[in-house]
Amino acid sequence: MKISVRTGLPLCRAAALPSRAAAVRLMGTAAHVSSPGPSPPMTTTTMPPRFNVQVAQNTRLRVQPPSSPPRQPATQPTTTKPSPPKPGPTMPPGFKAEYGSLPTFHIPPRITGSPSDLLLAHQIISAFRRDGIIQIGMTPHQRQLWADAQAASRRFFAKSPEEKAACVDSQSYAGYIASGEEVTDGIADYSEIFTITRDFDLDDKKVRAGWPCHGRVPWPDVEMREVMGRYQGELGEEGGGWFPPRNATNGKGKEGRGIGSHTDYGLLVISAQDDVGGLFIRRPSQEEKFANWEKSAAGLKEDEDGWVFIPPVEGTHTVILGDMMQYLTRNYLTATPHKVGLNTRERFAFAYFHEPSFQAEEDEGVHYGTHFTNMFIRNYPERITTKRLIEEGRYKLLERPELRTIGAVPRVEASV
Ligand SMILES: [Fe+2]
Repeated sequence: MKISVRTGLPLCRAAALPSRAAAVRLMGTAAHVSSPGPSPPMTTTTMPPRFNVQVAQNTRLRVQPPSSPPRQPATQPTTTKPSPPKPGPTMPPGFKAEYGSLPTFHIPPRITGSPSDLLLAHQIISAFRRDGIIQIGMTPHQRQLWADAQAASRRFFAKSPEEKAACVDSQSYAGYIASGEEVTDGIADYSEIFTITRDFDLDDKKVRAGWPCHGRVPWPDVEMREVMGRYQGELGEEGGGWFPPRNATNGKGKEGRGIGSHTDYGLLVISAQDDVGGLFIRRPSQEEKFANWEKSAAGLKEDEDGWVFIPPVEGTHTVILGDMMQYLTRNYLTATPHKVGLNTRERFAFAYFHEPSFQAEEDEGVHYGTHFTNMFIRNYPERITTKRLIEEGRYKLLERPELRTIGAVPRVEASV
């Protein structure tokens, strides 16, 4: 029945930062490598020449590893080797999967572009290409934020169905998503979610102009807003989820499925999960080609072999890759297919989605705002937000130049 903060996880679907480059708000958490002073140009082999995604200038994310590994620095980056896998009690029943065991990367508090930093970046990129997922140690501050977010999620999801159902907005996809409301590949998902997107005032020009997916976050209370605001301050935007016992299904979906197989839309997804377990991923494979922005990857290989269960490891975030990372790197790094199984206990999880600007577009290529809107319409076909978007003709606004130019000012007179 529930999920928690989305921008996040439940692994889950969603939330993004409409009309704002998801710049470097992940603090020292993810696979970001920055260096002091002007950043060197992106290599043309990995960055399309006219793709105006701000993440390139803001994060200086290098997706192309050096042609040869950097020389070993005097000080090695800290990487904890995988601990022996636990016996499988945390894997949801009824699933067949390999039991994953990941090394834990530790990001230094300050990135300077030192040889040690470059080696760490190289190792992380290699890990993404090998495993499709990495694990990063939380700082003590992040551990506290995660504990506070879990407590807030439990308080929210313990509210009555009526109270939770009131947390919706007709213009944004932020807020509560009931069990069975989310649809993946035509089948209902049994998870509850609270999604947080950027919180726009109703008098914001983008809202007044009727831009798709732009609106308020329907917070249930001030406390939830404060707690999630702090986590957002650390990571960015958030999302998350709580999964019900497997016997709590409502008959519309598929037994045991929390969230069906899919890829996420943006660049990176940073997630935390409690000790229950439910996340499965697929490793990158030359045999499995997909491009979710062209053809839906929902339901991909869901019932086939080849899944890896990612057991919870206390004090860590996991990071997977999204559609736009695959698109921008021309398949050098691929979006990570993942799904969530229902366990025998409730599960709480959280995910932060690091996204391009809603307005980002490559010439004759992908417009992120359109991809983002398409994914929400596909996943929430019956939501009030989808119905209003279609009924008021807002979708056609995605063609307007100001929605396809980063930083362009909304034309309020174009309001639908
Ligand atoms: Fe997801």
